[in-house]
Amino acid sequence: MRLLALNGSPRGPKSNSRFLTDEFLRGFAVTPANQAETLDIARPSDREKALAAFWNSDAVLLGFPLYTDAMPGLVKEFLEQVATLPRPDRRPTLVFLVQSGFPEATHTAPVARYLERLAGRLGCAFAGVVRRGNIEGIRTQPAWMVRGILGRFRGLGESFGRTGQLDPQELHKLAGRERIPRFALRLVCWWSRLMFWDRELKANHAYGKRFDTPYASGQ
Ligand SMILES: Cc1cc2nc3c(=O)[nH]c(=O)nc-3n(C[C@H](O)[C@H](O)[C@H](O)COP(=O)(O)O)c2cc1C
Repeated sequence: MRLLALNGSPRGPKSNSRFLTDEFLRGFAVTPANQAETLDIARPSDREKALAAFWNSDAVLLGFPLYTDAMPGLVKEFLEQVATLPRPDRRPTLVFLVQSGFPEATHTAPVARYLERLAGRLGCAFAGVVRRGNIEGIRTQPAWMVRGILGRFRGLGESFGRTGQLDPQELHKLAGRERIPRFALRLVCWWSRLMFWDRELKANHAYGKRFDTPYASGQ
């Protein structure tokens, strides 16, 4: 199978979307005959290549981060351009990867429904949407914390590479809970502050100023 993997993150090669896509592709490559090419559509040259290759691929994996409950503008623009190109009779199977900062699956549910409809409108087979929340800190978390998640992305890539399909139950498990209990949510917020936000503040010499209110009245 020839798979075109498109990274729709504005952060390009250093993004979480690319990190997870690469893991999916590691599993996909286990089937010896499979071939994959990865392009970052945030790069103008890659975007042109992606437009040229889209309709000639056996399958297209489009990965992107959730931005304000939807897709980044550059992904929307890309899809609008794809829709205007001449479409061959034999069309690629579409598979999507959507990851978000908030941990609950409810955040990515509306865009996943849209993507399924989009595949139908483009006349393409739809293999599913790989969804996962709580991803922002994934590249800075210790290896033991992310091993399980990365293994699941690889596993999905491997089964897609073998069958051209994704197991809906596996997708459901990976997406996690629609809503998580309040206590667990507090724990996640505390952990992400410790592991990500506080580190970002310190790296930018702003940790000591984190409670400043420069625009408060009377100052
Ligand atoms: C402009 C912007 C909007 C975002 N909106 C959401 C959102 O609505 N829901 C959410 O869960 N995460 C949101 N996020 C967080 C990203 O989805 C998350 O950090 C993701 O892992 C970034 O992936 P990337 O490195 O591939 O770009 C937003 C991030 C940015 C920069």
